[in-house]
Amino acid sequence: MIPNELVETLANARRVTVLTGAGVSAESGVPTFREAQTGLWARYDPLQLATPEAFDANPELVWDWYQFRRELVRNVEPNPGHYALVELANLVPAFTLVTQNVDGLHARAGSRDVIEFHGNLFENRCAAEGTVVEGRESKQLPHCPGCGAPLRPGVVWFGESIPAAASEQAFAAAGDCDVFFSIGTSSLVYPAAGLVEIAREAGAVLVEINPEPTDIAASLDFALAGKSGQILPDLVKRLGDHRT
Ligand code: OAD
Repeated sequence: MIPNELVETLANARRVTVLTGAGVSAESGVPTFREAQTGLWARYDPLQLATPEAFDANPELVWDWYQFRRELVRNVEPNPGHYALVELANLVPAFTLVTQNVDGLHARAGSRDVIEFHGNLFENRCAAEGTVVEGRESKQLPHCPGCGAPLRPGVVWFGESIPAAASEQAFAAAGDCDVFFSIGTSSLVYPAAGLVEIAREAGAVLVEINPEPTDIAASLDFALAGKSGQILPDLVKRLGDHRT
């Protein structure tokens, strides 16, 4: 399943950059973004709820949805794919992990300096001032102690800009790597989906890990069809064995 040529390429790589999406958390039990929602949220489309308009129209509903997602993520564990990325970082000279996921599972698995391209589910910000507000976790929609505006989750919604630092670091790492992995993402949402193009232009070897081919299939050097929780541990073992 893991081509020898890819193992060789990784063994000689100076810098590896990885972009992950919801697919890497799927085996932890976190529904992917475009998977049908279950339970009481089944009648809502996440792509409708994760918007400033939805929050302005009904902040309590959007807050409840994020409380539901926080509870769900609190009750799951990182999976072997998350842990394999921690190991991969130790097997190459330079490694950058960019994630579109807001679930914090990479950090919980032990990944350091994760670039959270779409923010973090567990952060709260004042909806008016944008400042981070600590310690106001509550089931009911909380308000900013400073100005009284509602608090909102510190995630990037549709139409909102990517945090400047995350964007700069992610594009720099994509433009300066020998191998770029796109793992568990449908490659549909920009600017995250544009990182692979930056890597390709910089001459990086492009690898996708996904049970389904995505729009970037034509530009790939390696398309590993399967689950990240199975392929990544395999890949890391092969690379580790190659090193010894
Ligand atoms: P999607 O739900 O769009 O795509 C998930 C991808 O993971 C799909 O291509 C699946 O085929 C793949 N997949 C499913 N199970 C997998 C597994 N076990 N191993 C590997 N891959 C698997 O989620 P994202 O691409 O992350 O943005 O969505 C990107 C962004 O769209 C999200 O970050 C969110 C949403 O709008 C914001 O919230 C701003």
